[in-house]
Amino acid sequence: MTVNPALDLNGVHLSLGHGAGRTHILKGIDLSIRTGESVGLVGPSGSGKSTLLMVMAGLERADEGTVKAAGQELGTMNEDELARFRGQNVGIIFQSFHLVPNMTALENVAVPLELSGNPKAFDHAREELEAVGLGHRLNHYPTQLSGGEQQRVAVARALVTNPEIIIADEPTGNLDESTGEQIVELMFLAQQRKNATLVLVTHNPALADRCQRKIQVHSGTIEEETPAVREVRAR
Ligand SMILES: Nc1ncnc2c1ncn2[C@@H]1O[C@H](COP(=O)(O)OP(=O)(O)OP(=O)(O)O)[C@@H](O)[C@H]1O
Ligand SMILES: [Mg+2]
Repeated sequence: MTVNPALDLNGVHLSLGHGAGRTHILKGIDLSIRTGESVGLVGPSGSGKSTLLMVMAGLERADEGTVKAAGQELGTMNEDELARFRGQNVGIIFQSFHLVPNMTALENVAVPLELSGNPKAFDHAREELEAVGLGHRLNHYPTQLSGGEQQRVAVARALVTNPEIIIADEPTGNLDESTGEQIVELMFLAQQRKNATLVLVTHNPALADRCQRKIQVHSGTIEEETPAVREVRAR
């Protein structure tokens, strides 16, 4: 039996911006990622890492090529279908947390489930916050939480729908080293707990090395670091 990849990109090109600001960002990306894999994306600033994540998450459409995620062809979906696809299949964690400021931790985590009409949204949100060690902060607002705590809330929110794909864009970029390490542990544990696929952008080589695969992004193209090269580097 062949299992469908969690993500399958073929010949993906994308330009963004208008007029003189229009930029050809992704220049022919072919990439297949299996369900349950962890992949680290590294590369210089401006190389297209965040843009590639956006395409994988169905937040940007490819101009050319095909994007299949969680078994679905994203190019054929309308905006409503894409929103539903994201709500059911993708959990996203950003560098700057992106919590809703006037909602408590519990309310923030419940949002994705409430949007899909889940009657147990708050029960599941509470369980997910307990799983990330924040059972004692359910009714705190984002400004009342530390950076690490806010990122735990964001992790819980990304996971609460049991998404097949978890996407994280420099999730430790705004945290001190030890807090960042705790968040990383939490993310990898959660990924295993949910048997999800993790695609992680990071400027931290040690963090990228914790992923099963490591991919370099260079001005809109990708190059995979083979296991042999990784072994030599690690010595
Ligand atoms: N909406 C847009 N319109 C025009 N150009 C854009 C747009 N979004 C991104 N770009 C350009 O595309 C390139 C890639 O951006 P992207 O954010 O994907 O880079 P990145 O690899 O994530 O960089 P960093 O490591 O700094 O986060 C950059 O040169 C950026 O200026
Ligand atoms: Mg980026």
